[in-house]
Amino acid sequence: MSDCETIDENIREKIQNLVVFMCNECGQGSANTAGVARMAYDPAIRIIRVQCTGQVGPTQIMDALNNGADAVACVGCCLGACHFFNGNILSMHRIKLMKKVFKELGYSDQFVNQYTSRAAEGETSVGDFEDIVERLSNAIKEEGTIKDGC
Ligand code: FES
Repeated sequence: MSDCETIDENIREKIQNLVVFMCNECGQGSANTAGVARMAYDPAIRIIRVQCTGQVGPTQIMDALNNGADAVACVGCCLGACHFFNGNILSMHRIKLMKKVFKELGYSDQFVNQYTSRAAEGETSVGDFEDIVERLSNAIKEEGTIKDGC
């Protein structure tokens, strides 16, 4: 039984849309590998394919949250492996900054997260998805959903 299956039903109902920006290289590659291996992942995950996570910034993240996402995550290449020089590092800095802003505004910093994955390892993206759900469910347990505060 995965962690996702042990989440309280009341909290589970509040996790419906998890927007995950995945880069076209390692991010999407690992999701494809997971699909080929028929690995299951949470049905709330909504994958948005981007060329590189460096393209994702506060505008896209806030747009997703304003349009109903319960949380947003970026999944890109591992450090040193970005196909666009340093897009993943830019993305990590942006997410880190956004986490600080969320904290300053009184929200949990778990509504936005950053991950890396390897194209040949489908279990990394499935593990990332499980971590997103687990972090969000813990945040909801402690502080409520982001919609509660809006
Ligand atoms: Fe994957 Fe840049 S191409 S993060």
